[in-house]
Amino acid sequence: MPLIGDKPTIGIAHVAYRFGDRMQARGIDLPFIEMRTREDFAARIGEIDVLLVSGYWNNALAPQAKRLKFIQSISAGVDQYDPAVLRAHGIRLASAAGGNANAVSEHAISLILAISRRLPEARDNQAKKFWRGMQGDFWKREDELGGKTLVVVGLGRIGGRLARLARAFGMHVIGLKRDPSTGAEGADEVHAIAKLHEVLPRADYVALCCPLTPETQGLIGTAELGLMKPSAHLVNVARGKVVKEAELIAALNAGTIKSAALDCVEEEPLPESSPLWTMPSVFITPHTGGETCAYEDNVLDFLMENLGRLQRGEDVLLNQVV
Ligand code: GLV
Repeated sequence: MPLIGDKPTIGIAHVAYRFGDRMQARGIDLPFIEMRTREDFAARIGEIDVLLVSGYWNNALAPQAKRLKFIQSISAGVDQYDPAVLRAHGIRLASAAGGNANAVSEHAISLILAISRRLPEARDNQAKKFWRGMQGDFWKREDELGGKTLVVVGLGRIGGRLARLARAFGMHVIGLKRDPSTGAEGADEVHAIAKLHEVLPRADYVALCCPLTPETQGLIGTAELGLMKPSAHLVNVARGKVVKEAELIAALNAGTIKSAALDCVEEEPLPESSPLWTMPSVFITPHTGGETCAYEDNVLDFLMENLGRLQRGEDVLLNQVV
C-alpha cells in the first residue's frame, strides 16, 4: 500500500531556497506551501504530507505533523533529525547526500587555496588600501600546494571529490574513513578514522568532511591539534561540533597550528562575542560551503525519485535514513 497518494501537499521550510519556482519551471504539478520562517513552519506543519526542510527541523514538532509521511532533507547532513522520533511518528527520511558534494568539495579546495595564497590577508589589505610588499619571511609568504600533504577526514562524496581535486594540485592525499576496505575514493592512502593520531603529524592541511555523529563529535581537540605541525592548517566544512572550539581557539592563540578556515562553528550564526571573528589566524565563511545555484534542482531530483518510490509502494529510498 503506497505511503503517499497522487497529489501530496509539499511543504518547503527554508529561509531562501526557491523550490516553488523550480517546481513550477520543471512542470512539477503538486500543491506546495512555502514557509520562510520557523514560526510559519511551526504554524503550518499540520497541513503537510511531504516536507523539504533542513535547519528549521525540530524533533519536538513531530507530534504536530499529523499528515507528514516523508521528509526529503534539503541538507546532506542529517544530525538534526532524531530517527527514533521519526519512526515513532511514521515519518520516513532521506538525506540530500551528494546534492552539494561539488559545492562543498570546491569550497574546501577554495579554502585551502585561499590559505596557501593568503587571499584573506589580501582582501583585508584591500579594505585598508594597503599594497603589501614582497615577503622575505617564508612564514608570511604565499605558497603552493604541490608536494604538501592533505589529510581528509571522511571520504564520502564530498571528501572523495576533495581528494581528487587536491591531487590535481599535486598534493599527497591521506583519506580517513570508517571502513577503509571500501576503497581510497581517489586518495593516495586510505586508513581507518582510528588512525587519526598516526597521520596528523604528516599533515600540512587537515580537512574535516565527515558527518556529525557520536563518533565524530569533538574529534578534534587539544590532543589532535597538538599532533599537527605548527605550520599546519585546519579546514572544517563538516559541522562545528566535530571540533572542540574552545580548544581550537586556545591552540591557535598558542601557535600550536598556523591557521583554521571554518565554514561551520559550534553555534550558528557565530555569536558576536566569539573571539573567532577577529583572530587573524582564522578565516570564516558562514556555512556557505554547500551553496550553489544548482541546489534546488539537485534536491528536487532526490525528492521526485523518492516520491515516485513511495507512491509505487516501494520500501527502499534513495539516500534512505529512516
Ligand atoms: C550542509 O551543511 C548540509 O548538510 O547539507
